[in-house]
Amino acid sequence: MSSVVSVELRGDIALVEINNPPVNATGVAVRLGLLEAVAKAEAANAKAAIVYCAGRTFVAGGDISEFGKPPQEPHLPDVYQNIEDSSVPWVAATHGTTLGGGFELAMACDFRLAQTGTRFGLPEVNLGLVPGAGGSQRLPRLIGVEAAVELATTGQLIDAQQLFDLGGLDLVFEGDPVEAALEFVADLPTPLSGLSKRSPAPVADDFFASKRAEITKRAKGQTSPLDNLRAIEWAATLPFSQGQPKERALHLELRDSAQSKALRHAFFSERAVSKPKAMEGGAPLDITKIAVVGGGLMGAGIAFACLNAGYDVALIERDQDAANAGRERVEGLIAGGIKRGKISQDKAEKLKSSLIAADDYAACADADLAIEAVFEDLGVKQQVFQSLASHMREDAILATNTSYIDPTQIFEGITNPSRFIGLHFFSPAHIMKLLEIVQLPSTSKDVLATGFDLGKQLRKVGVLSGICDGFIGNRILSAYRRQADYLLMDGCTPKQIDDAMRGFGMPMGPYELQDLTGLQISWANRKRQAPTRAPDERYVRIGDLLCEAERFGQRSAKGWYKYVEGDRKPHEDGFVTNLIEQEAKAAGIERQLFTNQEIVDRLMAVMINEGALIVEEGIAERDLDVDLVKIHGYGFPRWRGGPMHYASEIGIDRVKAAMTDVAKQSPNSWRLAERLK
Ligand code: NAI
Repeated sequence: MSSVVSVELRGDIALVEINNPPVNATGVAVRLGLLEAVAKAEAANAKAAIVYCAGRTFVAGGDISEFGKPPQEPHLPDVYQNIEDSSVPWVAATHGTTLGGGFELAMACDFRLAQTGTRFGLPEVNLGLVPGAGGSQRLPRLIGVEAAVELATTGQLIDAQQLFDLGGLDLVFEGDPVEAALEFVADLPTPLSGLSKRSPAPVADDFFASKRAEITKRAKGQTSPLDNLRAIEWAATLPFSQGQPKERALHLELRDSAQSKALRHAFFSERAVSKPKAMEGGAPLDITKIAVVGGGLMGAGIAFACLNAGYDVALIERDQDAANAGRERVEGLIAGGIKRGKISQDKAEKLKSSLIAADDYAACADADLAIEAVFEDLGVKQQVFQSLASHMREDAILATNTSYIDPTQIFEGITNPSRFIGLHFFSPAHIMKLLEIVQLPSTSKDVLATGFDLGKQLRKVGVLSGICDGFIGNRILSAYRRQADYLLMDGCTPKQIDDAMRGFGMPMGPYELQDLTGLQISWANRKRQAPTRAPDERYVRIGDLLCEAERFGQRSAKGWYKYVEGDRKPHEDGFVTNLIEQEAKAAGIERQLFTNQEIVDRLMAVMINEGALIVEEGIAERDLDVDLVKIHGYGFPRWRGGPMHYASEIGIDRVKAAMTDVAKQSPNSWRLAERLK
C-alpha cells in the first residue's frame, strides 16, 4: 500500500486520504496510491469513493521537484482518467488551495465539494506551462470556455463560492470535508457523464482571435498565456481524446523551455530570498506602531502601506501645514483604494483612525520603528535621527529610506547602532513589490529579521543589500543608463534603444522611462558623483544639457522626446537628435549602426557585469537577490528570470564577448567582474 494514500472502507463508502505534506503534491507515490485506490474501491463494490487530503490543503499542485527528470509512470492524466472512468462514483472533498493538479483531480471526479473559502486555480501559466493532466480540457467543459480562458491564461484564483456560481461545484460546506462528503453521499445524486465525455458550449466565432490579440498585448513577450489559450481552443474544437494528448505534449515540451525555467527560477528565488545567511539565527521583534518621518511622495506611500498592513502610524512633518498635507496625501491613497474596490468604507475609517499626523516628535515616542523619508540631504536626515533618538526608546529600530546616501553617515552619533537599518522602498511605495533591506555593519540579526518580517507584512519582496552607491537596484540602473548613453554617442537614437529594450521584454526603454520619472534626479546624482568619478571615464553630458535646457521629461512636455499636451506618447524630437550628433562630432566619434540585438547584448552585458560585481563585493549574497531586485523594482521581465539567470541561459561566453566589446568601445569606463574576465 502506498505510504501517502490510504483507503478506508466505512460501510460501503471508500475514504481515500492523501497525506503527502506539505501541500499534497501529486508526486509518483500519490499517483500510484490513487491508482490502487481506484482498484480497491471497485473491488469493494463501494457506493462512492471520497478523496480528501490531510493537513492544511487539498492537492495544491504537481511535484515541481520532478521537473527536469523524465516523467515517471504512472502519468497523472492516466491516473485521472482511471478515476473518471471508474465504475464507482468519485467525490472530491476539497479545502485549502486546490490548484493545478489538485483542481485537475477534482475535475476528474464525478462530484466536487468545497469547504467555504477553498481557492481554485490553474497557476501553471505563471510557471510558463499549460496544465498537464487535462485541466485545460476539462475546465471549459465544466465552467464554459470564457471563464476557463480567464482562469488558465492569468493563473488567477477564485474561491469556492465563485466556482459554485460558475457551475463548477456541487456543494460548498462549512466544517470537516469528510463529514460533509459522507452526508453528501448518503443521498447521492446520479452522476452525469464524466467531463471528458461532454462538449463545452460554443462561443462566438471570433472569440479566440480577439482573445489572442488581447492576450498578446498583455503578455509582453511571455508565451504561456497564449499557450493556455491554444490549449483551451483545442478543448473547444476537438474531442477530449485528441485535445488531452495535445495538452500533455505541450506541457512536457514547455517544462524544458527557457521561459518556464526562468519563471521557475523566479518562483524558487522568491522563497529563498527571505532567508539570507546574514540573518541566520535572527528573530523578528514585535512592531505595533511605526513612525514615518516625511509625508512627501515616498513617506505618504510608506505610511499608507503600513496602515494597510495593520500598523499604527505616526507621520511626522516639518510643520503643521506640512503634516496636514501629508495626512491629505495618505487619505488620497486610501480614497484610491476605496475607488478600486481594494478597501471597504469601514476599513478606510479604521486606517484613518490609526494615523496621526504631527509636527511634534512626541507623537512617535511609543513607536517601535521609525522610517525616515525626508529630503535626500545628509544634514536634514542626521537632524531627523537626532530628534527620533531623543524621543524614542533606546531599542526602537531606526530606518532610512535613502536612495544613495551612505546610511552609516546618516546615523552618525546615534546610540545603539545595532538598531540601524536601511529600508529602501520604490515609488509608488504602496504598489512596488521591492523592498531593499540595507544592512549596516552594526545591524543586529534580529533587526534584519524585523526588516524582512515587515516586508512580508507589507506583501513585499524583501532583498538584503549591503552598502554601495545606489545599493543593488539603482547601482545597476546607473550602469545600464551609462551604457545606453554611450550607445547614443556611438550611433543610436533614444527611440532605437527604447524599441530594442521593449522588444527584449522591458515595459519601457531607458529614455521613455526617464521622461516619465523626470530627468532631475539622475542629473542631481551625476553632479553628486562628479567629484569621485575617474577622470578618464567616458562621460556623456547629453542628459545634463537637456536638463539645462529645462527639458525634464513628460512634466515639462519635453525631455528625451517631445509630448503633445494631454498625451503621454513620446515623439522623436529633432532637437535631441541634433544634440546627440553634435556631441558625437565634437568627441570625434564616427557614428555607426547597431542592430537591436547588439543594443540588447550590450545593455544586458553591463547589467550582468554590475550584478556580478555586486555579488563579488558581497553587496548581494547571491545572484538570485540581484534577479529579484530587477524583476520587482525595475520591470525586468519575469519570464527572463532576471539578468543573472538570463546570463546563465544564454551562456557566459556570449556575455563575455559583449562585455569585451563594450569595454573596448569605452576604455577606462568599465571594471570587469571576475567571472566575465
Ligand atoms: P519628497 O520631497 O516628496 O518628500 C520629502 C518630505 O519630507 C516632504 O514632505 C518634506 O516636507 C519632508 N521633510 C523635509 N524635511 C523634514 C524634516 N526635517 N522633518 C520632517 N519632514 C521633513 O521626497 P520623496 O521623493 O518622498 O523622497 C524622500 C526620500 O525617499 C529621499 O531620501 C529619497 O531619496 C528617497 N526615495 C525616493 C524615491 C523616489 O522615487 N522619489 C524612491 C526611493 C527612495
